[in-house]
Amino acid sequence: MSAFEHYHPSQYSPYIGGHFQLTPHALDVFSPYSGKPVYKTYLAGPDEFEIALQAACSAKTVMQDFPVYHRYRVLMQIAEAISAHREQFATIMAREAGKPLKTAFVEIDRAVQTFQIAAEEAKRLPGELLSIDWHPSGAGKDAIVKYFPIGIVAAITPFNFPLNLVAHKIAPAIAAGCPIVLKPASKTPISALLLAKIIDQTDLPTGALSVLPMDRQTGNQLVTDERFDLLSFTGSSEVGWEMKQRAGKKRVVLELGGNAALVVDQDADLQTAVAKAVKGGFGYAGQSCIHTQRIYVEASRFDDFVALFRDRINDLVIGDPESAETDMSVMINEQHATRIEAWVNEAVAAGATLIAGGNRDCALYAPTVLTNTDKQMKICAQEAFAPVVVIEPFSDFKQAIAAVNDSEFGLQAGIFTFDSRKIYYAFHHLRVGGVIINETPTFRADHMPYGGIKDSGLGREGPRYALLDMLEPKVLVMDHNQTL
Ligand code: SIN
Repeated sequence: MSAFEHYHPSQYSPYIGGHFQLTPHALDVFSPYSGKPVYKTYLAGPDEFEIALQAACSAKTVMQDFPVYHRYRVLMQIAEAISAHREQFATIMAREAGKPLKTAFVEIDRAVQTFQIAAEEAKRLPGELLSIDWHPSGAGKDAIVKYFPIGIVAAITPFNFPLNLVAHKIAPAIAAGCPIVLKPASKTPISALLLAKIIDQTDLPTGALSVLPMDRQTGNQLVTDERFDLLSFTGSSEVGWEMKQRAGKKRVVLELGGNAALVVDQDADLQTAVAKAVKGGFGYAGQSCIHTQRIYVEASRFDDFVALFRDRINDLVIGDPESAETDMSVMINEQHATRIEAWVNEAVAAGATLIAGGNRDCALYAPTVLTNTDKQMKICAQEAFAPVVVIEPFSDFKQAIAAVNDSEFGLQAGIFTFDSRKIYYAFHHLRVGGVIINETPTFRADHMPYGGIKDSGLGREGPRYALLDMLEPKVLVMDHNQTL
């Protein structure tokens, strides 16, 4: 019998300083698909927050001294346990996030990798031997640079990847030796709480992890409390930049939004480009920061691309996230679907042409394609975070790159071409955190540096890079001038 079977599937408690504890404030979690409550959890209030933070303070030295072979073992234990609970996680994600099972399984397998990668990175934390005699005053001296855990991490995660984006905070924190207090999204806290259940059964020191669903006011202390040394936030640009203003002296990492673009050049393999672009545009109903939102197609291929794109959309199975066949389901709630409906209607009223979709049924917004848009329209300029793409023709590759850059965001961009000169041109000129060739901007491998510039954020995730933000270098200088 699994160690988890005794746990009632519909009720999950917050994980407060190493203990699961009910609080007086229930939080119902609703299925975006059925609209019905599917799980119950509890909000941590200021008292529970304080217990969690004090436990993290107590775990600080323990975590710093927690040997790497233990960190490695804990991280690998977590990876194995996630695999063992694959079905349970998938059901939770389908129910709380409306994420189709197919898509949920991909995320679960990625979360397993995220913990495995962090386990490996724990074994190669940075360090340096530095000669100091670059100047006469340094003669006879050298130095060791060692990286120490920064301290306590405050983490806030969004609804769209309720397991893997949580993994991207917790896994590097364990690898770095930092206690962490995490607030999962209120709409999708259950995946994170099952993960906490798993982690509770490992040898991670008590108090090193708390997972606290909280209301905004209590969660705000993650931003403002000076006992935290790092704030790592994934979510909207508006909220992220505002948090940075209030974060005080702590280090801040922001993984924010985008309106990612894809360029399909004249020599592209159109079938592959279309197949991937449909996935990038409509996977999890476009609710990813690297959703393929703007597509620029070389003019001579434009009509073919659009025709193939429309055919592919017609093949998508749309419906119940708990059905194994479903490719695309609802958005996180009706409010978001109504917002995107208004953006599309506004664009059409201003002259855009609707190629597909444009209709809504409660939280389900049909896969939608627009052309003849203007770059000022919300659907082009802002983050759609919805199953909507804009396809426009271009005649000059450099102009297409300029169009991609003509955005307040800079997360990732994709290019379909086999021309190495254009690849290098794009790599050098695109103002983004990642350039993805013969793939969409929606592609992410969990060990690569992931993050953006401009309004898209600050810092990088991917365990190796996230670790660097969770560490502080300290130098030990030694003078060897004394003679024996
Ligand atoms: C995000 O939405 O920022 C995460 C995308 C991903 O991990 O694929």
